[in-house]
Amino acid sequence: MNNLRVEPRIWAVIPAAGRGERFASDAVAVPKQYAPLLNATLLEWSVRPILAEARIEAVVVVLAPADCRWPSVALKLVPSGLTKGELPLKLMCAVGGSSRQQSVLNGLEYLVGRAAAQDWVMVHDAARPCVTGYELHAMFDALDAGAPGAVLGCPIVDTVKRQQGSTLATVDRQGLWRTLTPQIFRFEELRQSLIDAARRGVTVTDEAQAMERTVTPVMVLGSIFNIKVTRPEDLTLAAEVLKMHDKATMRVGQGMDAHAFGTGDHVMLGGVRVANPRGVVAHSDGDVVIHALCDALLGALGQGDIGQHFPDSDPRHQGADSRVFLREVAARMRLAGLSLVNADVTVLAEAPRIAPHRASMAATLAADLGTDAARINIKATTTERLGFIGRGEGLAAQACVLLA
Ligand code: CTP
Ligand code: MG
Repeated sequence: MNNLRVEPRIWAVIPAAGRGERFASDAVAVPKQYAPLLNATLLEWSVRPILAEARIEAVVVVLAPADCRWPSVALKLVPSGLTKGELPLKLMCAVGGSSRQQSVLNGLEYLVGRAAAQDWVMVHDAARPCVTGYELHAMFDALDAGAPGAVLGCPIVDTVKRQQGSTLATVDRQGLWRTLTPQIFRFEELRQSLIDAARRGVTVTDEAQAMERTVTPVMVLGSIFNIKVTRPEDLTLAAEVLKMHDKATMRVGQGMDAHAFGTGDHVMLGGVRVANPRGVVAHSDGDVVIHALCDALLGALGQGDIGQHFPDSDPRHQGADSRVFLREVAARMRLAGLSLVNADVTVLAEAPRIAPHRASMAATLAADLGTDAARINIKATTTERLGFIGRGEGLAAQACVLLA
């Protein structure tokens, strides 16, 4: 007797062929699914958790016919261990249609000959980049418990009104859900339902609607943070959610700089000109506070140090205003989707006295970093006449930053 039972496999279809008309703006020239989101594109965030899921057989990303951006994104999504040539094993693509419904159906048609009728298909919108592995597992648990289909959703918690002409009625919210994606149904059942809806000229906005004449899926509790990026401001919210999910996006850095005193009548500290009987010997303006801060920020970003980005061998940096360096480092920080939580700076010097300049230094640095002066603490110490600082031969600064 053959005891082998073939478990249904689980495939994924990710419709990503939309035009993002509600998202389009002059500021964003790319289609919604390719909008930059932290250090990747929206599409990468939506595909990655599903592609990473061991129980998923393969992922079909459904693309707009003229999509030319997919190949570079696909390469970034290749799970480590797979080479470019092996890419089609788990990550595939199909061409979408003029509606979401048609795009999903095209993705299913692509699976004909690959998926068995009883296999499962998980459909997930490319526009939902904040889906978590936790939600995927909750859906698998529902299938394992015998559900005929599973839909991620959130119970409605607000009071709901329906306005019709001049009347406004309260809708009983008992049993009302907002449906999210992913949604999972049997491959052939879903395909036939979508073919049937198309034949009847019925528009469905999710898979559960296409299936509702035949299958009642289990509603699986999803996260309120599994938002759909529809308008530009949703992208900002998605970035915050992703940062919240990944505490590893908190980054710490430290930096240090020292300069010898030389001729001159002032020193630059934190972008502020501080009168002093001696200046510093430096290639740039010798601002130890900004240099230490830049190094701390670059350290937190994992991008080396100030010498790499602004070498003293470069004549352009001769006498340079260090605030230019700081602004460039701040731009790198923003590009990485991070901002300053706080910075703590210590100036080590016997002279000049720092206290009278603390507020203007914090304000100047904050302006260059695009943040609030309250996030920047400036303090100072002498070294009790010890060492080169104690002997008054030079001064130094240390900085510590936290980015998130
Ligand atoms: N989608 C698709 N094919 C279409 C239309 C939509 O694959 N012809 C996809 C979108 O790319 C998105 C998902 O379906 O991942 C949900 O659609 P929606 O959020 O409405 O995205 P868009 O249709 O792109 O946006 P809009 O309606 O604002 O134009
Ligand atoms: Mg749409």
